[in-house]
Amino acid sequence: MGAQRLIFLGPPGSGKGTQAARMSGKFGLAALSSGDTLRREIAGDSAVGRAAQAYVSTGQLVPDDVITDVMLAAIDRLPRSAGFILDGFPRTIPQAEALQQGLAARGMPLHGVVDFEIPDQELVVRLAGRRVCTGCGMSYNVGSLPPRAAGVCDRCGGALAQREDDREDVVATRLATYRRQTAPLIDFYRRHGLLHPVDAAADVNDVEAAVAAEIAAMGVAG
Ligand code: AP5
Repeated sequence: MGAQRLIFLGPPGSGKGTQAARMSGKFGLAALSSGDTLRREIAGDSAVGRAAQAYVSTGQLVPDDVITDVMLAAIDRLPRSAGFILDGFPRTIPQAEALQQGLAARGMPLHGVVDFEIPDQELVVRLAGRRVCTGCGMSYNVGSLPPRAAGVCDRCGGALAQREDDREDVVATRLATYRRQTAPLIDFYRRHGLLHPVDAAADVNDVEAAVAAEIAAMGVAG
């Protein structure tokens, strides 16, 4: 079992969730998706979900303290020795600083940040074609990664649906939000010597091989 502590950083639709699922299986890492966690909280009508709903549906970031508490709590629920992938968190410099402090306090430094590099025009096409399983959350694409039977999840047989925030107008807001608030993390993690860029515009199996090679090269020290 791997014990790397990783971040997957990249714009909406760059393939973070797809590769987090694959790397979770390959390296035995827990995949902790901030977006999936918020969508579960919203579906369950919890206090966090009610606080997050308006931000998520319009493509804006939920407040830093809300998501930071949620993600540190998710890390604390894992066995101490477990490795993990943070998919979609952090997304702002204050979140990155809070994560750094939170992990330092737990004696759990990060091993690396995989940066999914991809042009905007490819993202728009991918998000328009994305379908997500309403049962297990598995992500498909009507163009590039179709399920074996249309509208049905290969893994659990659940129904596939389009995410509310994959509408064209919301996608434009999400991309702008990424460029303004999240892209500065690329320099932040580069300065910390943690950044591992991959070409996320490549075929999904080639991206998988590139991400796996980066993770394997990071080791499990710390
Ligand atoms: P979240 O759910 O994290 O959305 P996101 O970052 O916008 O990322 P996506 O899930 O859209 O994309 P992905 O990179 O995982 O791509 P995927 O693998 O699905 O966040 C949603 C919202 O929650 C935010 O807008 C915000 O409101 C809130 N939120 C979350 N985290 C927050 C935080 N830290 N702070 C504040 N607010 C936060 O792939 C996309 C599609 O492409 C799929 O159809 C897939 O099948 C296909 N695909 C994948 N790889 C390839 C490939 N190589 N070639 C062709 N197609 C591919």
